[in-house]
Amino acid sequence: MSTYAIVLAAGKGTRMKSELAKVLHEIAGRPMVNWVLGALEAVNVDGSVAVIGHQADAVAAILPEGVVAAVQERQLGTADAVKVGLAALDLAPDDTVLVLPGDMPLITGATLDELLMLHASSGSVATLLTAILEDPTGYGRILRTDGAVAGIVEQRDGTDEQLAVREVNTSVYAFQAGPLQEFIENVATDNSQGEYYLTDIVGLFASEGLPMSGIAGDPVEVMGVNTHAHLATAADHLRNRINTHWLEAGVWMQDPARVYIDAGVELGPGVRLYPNVYLENGTKVGAGSEIGPDVFATGATIGETCKVWYSVIRDSSLGDGATAGPYVSLRQGVAMASGTKAGTFVEMKNTSLGTGSKVPHLSYMGDATIGEKSNIGAGSITCNWDGFTKNPTVIGDRVFIGSDSMLVAPVEIGDDAFTGAGSVITNDVAPGSLAVERSPQKEIKGYAARRRRRAGEEA
Ligand code: UD1
Ligand code: CA
Repeated sequence: MSTYAIVLAAGKGTRMKSELAKVLHEIAGRPMVNWVLGALEAVNVDGSVAVIGHQADAVAAILPEGVVAAVQERQLGTADAVKVGLAALDLAPDDTVLVLPGDMPLITGATLDELLMLHASSGSVATLLTAILEDPTGYGRILRTDGAVAGIVEQRDGTDEQLAVREVNTSVYAFQAGPLQEFIENVATDNSQGEYYLTDIVGLFASEGLPMSGIAGDPVEVMGVNTHAHLATAADHLRNRINTHWLEAGVWMQDPARVYIDAGVELGPGVRLYPNVYLENGTKVGAGSEIGPDVFATGATIGETCKVWYSVIRDSSLGDGATAGPYVSLRQGVAMASGTKAGTFVEMKNTSLGTGSKVPHLSYMGDATIGEKSNIGAGSITCNWDGFTKNPTVIGDRVFIGSDSMLVAPVEIGDDAFTGAGSVITNDVAPGSLAVERSPQKEIKGYAARRRRRAGEEA
């Protein structure tokens, strides 16, 4: 006896009022449908099918490996979607089919496990995950006769009496494969939307006297996302869940409500996060590093005991003990080795900074390779773009770049070399040399007095 899952993800999600298919909307850096599939990973299913349709190619592209995509050409309703899913599975009659909507990002593996366990022990043809809601508006209502599940009525089709029921259908079901395959053929479209409602199968089972059970889940977990307001609420819950996980793992947060950590981010113990920190796209932060306030990091690898504040770090890395900020922009492809520093108002792109080197103030380093223990003086710039091509700058070890040096690339500064402040360096500098490019300073004695006298005459 095997268990398979069908995730319904073909709908457009009209109520999102968005060009993007509903299940592609991201929460904490992960498409909504992948949160559902993530919960499924925690359950031992023998296979999963995602029923896709709207923007099928884009949805298929983000599905985790091993999930089979089945295309529902026209979105004729949830029962039709399940039929499409069933067709992609090779089922035995006593297999279990778990059906889930793709728009329920807060569902957990623990709840799915509980549902499957009840289903297995109860011998029901269908076991429903329900929820008792303060405000059941919008959801299908569970109809019971003498306590037993007897049917589901949709919001649009319910009588006032039925709509007063607060137990709702979450759209998560465990079915016996045989009865599901048989009865789904009898689902009709006699409802206000003219759709094949999966919910109708429950009434069909009841009219044949087949046993069903229901278990009420956590109202938050089973929340369906149909609008942007729902999306924001779900994101809030997931952020809370993620932050709680990291707090328990030994991360300090001054204000967890203002820390935004995506799924897939990795943090070491003792990491300290100040407010307005955004960690996205697989960013890693090593033990004891201090991030924020005001840091946006995407695709960043930050070592241990680093400090980054008021800065933007994109697809770049910092070695252990490196510091960046305040006001640093690492645009892309920057590798700062251990013990390096990028200081106030520094931009770097496609640049490597060797161990112990520093770019402390007001500089731009682009397409540069900088050795170890070099210092880049305030206001220095690699002129890497000549209007046609990007050119490299190579700076050796223990180099002293004087303040306000313009390094016109391609150019190479040898180990232990110096450049004089204010120089425009267009030629390579040999190791150990000083290169100065500026006119000698003139001094005009008594100038101030003469200047004042002249002004007096003219007045
Ligand atoms: C559905 C249930 C309702 C339940 C609610 C819980 C039905 C008829 N209604 O309503 O009882 O309270 O979920 O959230 O089942 N989908 C397809 N193909 C289709 C139609 C839908 O794949 O042809 C997918 C959607 O992409 C979505 C899921 O099925 O992920 C549910 O569809 P949706 O339109 O959101 O149903 P609700 O109106 O929310
Ligand atoms: Ca829904």
